[in-house]
Amino acid sequence: MSEQRRSQTWFGGADKIGFFHRSGLKAMGLPDRMFDGRPVIGICNTWSQLAPCNAHLRDLAEHVARGVYEAGGLPLEFPVTSLGETLMRPSTMMYRNLASMDVEETLRSNPLDGVVLLAGCDKTTPALLMGAASVDLPSIMLSGGPTLTGRRNGVQLPSGTGTYAMYDQVRAGTMTPEDFVGAEVCMWRSNGSCNTMGTASTMASMVETMGLALTGNAAIPAVDARRRSLAHDTGHRAVELVREDLRLSTVLTRESLENAIRVNAAIGGSTNAVVHLLAVAGRTGVELSLDDFDAVAADVPLLVDLVPSGRYLMEDFFDAGGIPVVINRLGDRLHLDAPTVTGRTLGENVAGATGWGSPVIRSVDDPLQENAGIAVLRGNLAPDGAIIKPSAAEKDLLVHRGRAVVFEDIDDLRARIDDPELDVHADSVLVLKGAGPKGYPGMPEMGNLPIPAKLLRAGVTDMVRISDARMSGTAFGAVVLHVAPESAAGGPLALVQDGDVIELDVPARRLHLEVDDAELERRRSVRGEHPIPDTGGYTQLYLQHVTQADTGADLDFLRGKRGSGVPRASH
Ligand code: FES
Ligand code: MG
Repeated sequence: MSEQRRSQTWFGGADKIGFFHRSGLKAMGLPDRMFDGRPVIGICNTWSQLAPCNAHLRDLAEHVARGVYEAGGLPLEFPVTSLGETLMRPSTMMYRNLASMDVEETLRSNPLDGVVLLAGCDKTTPALLMGAASVDLPSIMLSGGPTLTGRRNGVQLPSGTGTYAMYDQVRAGTMTPEDFVGAEVCMWRSNGSCNTMGTASTMASMVETMGLALTGNAAIPAVDARRRSLAHDTGHRAVELVREDLRLSTVLTRESLENAIRVNAAIGGSTNAVVHLLAVAGRTGVELSLDDFDAVAADVPLLVDLVPSGRYLMEDFFDAGGIPVVINRLGDRLHLDAPTVTGRTLGENVAGATGWGSPVIRSVDDPLQENAGIAVLRGNLAPDGAIIKPSAAEKDLLVHRGRAVVFEDIDDLRARIDDPELDVHADSVLVLKGAGPKGYPGMPEMGNLPIPAKLLRAGVTDMVRISDARMSGTAFGAVVLHVAPESAAGGPLALVQDGDVIELDVPARRLHLEVDDAELERRRSVRGEHPIPDTGGYTQLYLQHVTQADTGADLDFLRGKRGSGVPRASH
């Protein structure tokens, strides 16, 4: 055993300080030999009953601990701030950065040699990765896995996506409120994250693709026995990572991020991956820009037929072979020699995973769609960029000119969207302001503005919508998101008025407001600055320091790697 091991600077001393450190843990029943220099593995847990998608992570942590003990390590489980998409207000995104600080500071300030990161619900994955990347210990992630396929009366119920669809039916008068409530428990049948290719499954897929988790991590259902066995293996491998000194930064590289961006296109993954991967890259010092998402993956075909871009759900994706099959199908389009936490390359991890011919994962010769990457738009309406997921939009709206129907903020939207008097038509462009990182605050998932009820009743199923908000990974439509700079940070989105003509041209990557510069300047001088409200607390810190979507909406002072060194002891 090495005297250099990080945890031994806590436990290795024969002095009063070593006594304190060991004695405290012996109070939990740990025998003396646990402090003999064996790798100490933190199990960083986002378990919380306020994050129901992560409610089974205490159980998974037990299986991780078994694997750690089996490999000769000492597991120590600890909680960090969790982020529950279904409950938290005003937006989990506002607290992603706070959770990442919790992770970073807890890892650095405690006697840990390596860490297993347990995440599930959307923001918990990037929060843990961001915090861990700033510390750079040997690290491995374990995702909670998706919930089982939901069904009611023989109809499949996709998480999130099904809710939006059913609520549109309620608003259009074709579903009763009683049936709507009845569907609640049918959609979420078990522990686990959304059963669609929403943000949680997308980020779990990114983690597996980047080589930060064991092979199979993304798709095994939350309650499948194989998820527990994966947890056991993850704990075992964490101990070996410490012995090999295989740090997060060895695996999390420009190449692995490019792999993630490409696989995200192939799986029809969430637009939220953009802000999360940009934020993670920002912690590592790896250069990654918004434009990379378009440049690196524009030509990648959509292979995975999952809601919201396709038909099936995560259980079907697991049965079809999951991410390893997708990686093999993409083949040379990926950096297959990228190192991973298994100690093997990405290509070696997935060797032989060719699938069995399931319709859920298509071949590159027969894709669901060509060119499925996220498109990055620019123009006078989004000088620093905006994004759209063409695979989730009605194709005839990807080139569109229409008159703006403007909502100044979310309250204005809620008050007027279903007003029968609203001057809106199927070819109008719905614009929402004030929903960016600073404006809302917290850049909520409100970018898929509801289609006005009177248009729904007339059979309209998609419209061009533009905002500085995000969109749930389970949502769909011709939705332009993440407009930067946002309206509350002086972006031109703030200057749009009812009746202005907006041109969207996705093939040309263009988002243009047909109003001349002089008129925009006049409007700007009338509108003035958007002051930062004096809220106090974390919100104040967030408002003062959050960056725009095109750089990941992290707090500016959290960018970069600060390492695991601590200059002072505590006693
Ligand atoms: Fe938690 Fe979708 S709400 S994963
Ligand atoms: Mg979501």
